[in-house]
Amino acid sequence: MEIHRRPNLALIGFMGTGKTSVGRHVAEQLGFEFLDTDELIQSHTGRTIADIFSKDGEPAFRELERQVVHELSTREKTLIATGGGLPTHAENLATLKAFAVVICLWASPEKIWERVRNQSHRPLLHDAEPQKKIRELLAAREPFYKQADVLINTDLRSVREAAQQVALQFKLATRPRR
Ligand code: S3P
Repeated sequence: MEIHRRPNLALIGFMGTGKTSVGRHVAEQLGFEFLDTDELIQSHTGRTIADIFSKDGEPAFRELERQVVHELSTREKTLIATGGGLPTHAENLATLKAFAVVICLWASPEKIWERVRNQSHRPLLHDAEPQKKIRELLAAREPFYKQADVLINTDLRSVREAAQQVALQFKLATRPRR
């Protein structure tokens, strides 16, 4: 893995894998600024993700994600938690990789369901069969998630343990080499 000129860290992964909670811990540990693409989109537009999905549709949301990734490409010492579908656009993944070490948080469909079942803010899970939807989306996205520099399974890890692992992998990926 090349040494990044601008060592930022991007977390990718499915909904419910802990990108935001783990990301906040890691940012604190590394002394990085924490940013979340969903939060940036909401503050830029003054609207919720659910509202953008329902009124403008998913393609419009994906375009906003693309713009946000470009805006972030000049950052330094920043940890970016990304929306679950963001890396499924090849351009987004390539852009992220150019300015950040990309770490994917992974979880099984069962664990994801356990973590998201009591939350209601994700439009893609407003489905008659949310568990089936999770399995299908996860399978479709797996090839993208696997393009991360590092993959970390969060099934059996607490937020704190996952954060330690992310920080360790980031340090290994960015350590100076002789
Ligand atoms: C999405 C995941 C969400 C949010 C939007 C779409 C997805 O972010 O970007 O609801 O396509 O998986 P989280 O992964 O932070 O839940």
